[in-house]
Amino acid sequence: MKIAVGSDHAAYSLKKFLLEHLRQKSGIEAVDMGVDTDAVSCDYPDIAFRVGEAVAGRHAEKGLLLCGTGVGMSIAANKIPGVYAAHCHDVETARFSRWHNNSNVLTMGARILSEELAREVLDVWLETDFEGDRHIRRLSKIQDYEHKICPSCTFSEKGKTVIFEHPLVQHKVSIIRDKNTSVKEFRELVQEIAGLMVYEMTRNLPLVKIEVETPLAKTEAYALEGKKLAIVPVLRAGLGMVDGILQLVPNAKVGHIGLYRDPETLLPVEYYCKLPGDISERDILVLDPMLATGGSAAAAISLVKARGGKKVSLVCIIAAPEGVSKVHAEHPDVDIYAAALDSHLNDHGYIVPGLGDAGDRLFGTK
Ligand code: RB5
Repeated sequence: MKIAVGSDHAAYSLKKFLLEHLRQKSGIEAVDMGVDTDAVSCDYPDIAFRVGEAVAGRHAEKGLLLCGTGVGMSIAANKIPGVYAAHCHDVETARFSRWHNNSNVLTMGARILSEELAREVLDVWLETDFEGDRHIRRLSKIQDYEHKICPSCTFSEKGKTVIFEHPLVQHKVSIIRDKNTSVKEFRELVQEIAGLMVYEMTRNLPLVKIEVETPLAKTEAYALEGKKLAIVPVLRAGLGMVDGILQLVPNAKVGHIGLYRDPETLLPVEYYCKLPGDISERDILVLDPMLATGGSAAAAISLVKARGGKKVSLVCIIAAPEGVSKVHAEHPDVDIYAAALDSHLNDHGYIVPGLGDAGDRLFGTK
């Protein structure tokens, strides 16, 4: 289990003590997210947001936040949808916060607890599982509220569907729906929509601290951590989204998947699959502008997983409810991002109202 750990200056020494303790445990990877000194006073919200976003973005399974009292950290971290921070100063509260609340962040105060008690509280919190049952219903109410106030940043244990309601996205989608939009304009807009969606989707990518020398001085700065992204368009319509994403994430690796539908069985059949060698270490975005029955998207995701892909999201422009259900049923861990959720599929499997055949409209083949 990966646990993101952070403190302000007031709890720096407790953080060091607990990090050492965590690093002696097998099966736990403790990641120190700062601060790096107690010689300079800092602001606890900065650290709370760093650790909280790592947890909400699922880059760490749990978070540990320490400050003078633990109160500031819990207030700040709980502003992040998907963070359920429990402020605990005794073993029983820690145990119940896992049993009943499924807390994913623990906050404690270095000015309140001894090192030994803090270690005991942490151990119990880590060892206790969520009870599920009636508590699921209660937690769902909290998640529904988060979704109401921020539809694009809801976190859940299972894959979620996020519809981008941003006005720029909606405006551009209306133009590509129009049957009179030219191939050139259609192609440009699909790239722009894909870029806007990825800008929002990547807001929780983890950062590492680096040093940069400006023309004036050396300074601390941040860079994306680790192996970053792989994008995998499903041929051929998925190709229409690639450049819009690469403009924002130029170092992303690109894989390709080709599938056709067998005319007799109507099942998707693979005819091409070439993915980056380090696919298992990357966040993977499978691209397919139209999520209709979900057959090809689900098959493409299975292919990616069979070759080692672990963290997969599906990015489409228009989704039908049938496709969303199929992908969530076959891949409950996969998030679906779409610019619009349409009404239904017609008898030929086309999304209604949709925009027609995205491949034909992108490549002018009709
Ligand atoms: C810092 O002095 C202190 O305010 C902080 O560590 C924390 O206790 C806030 O809640």
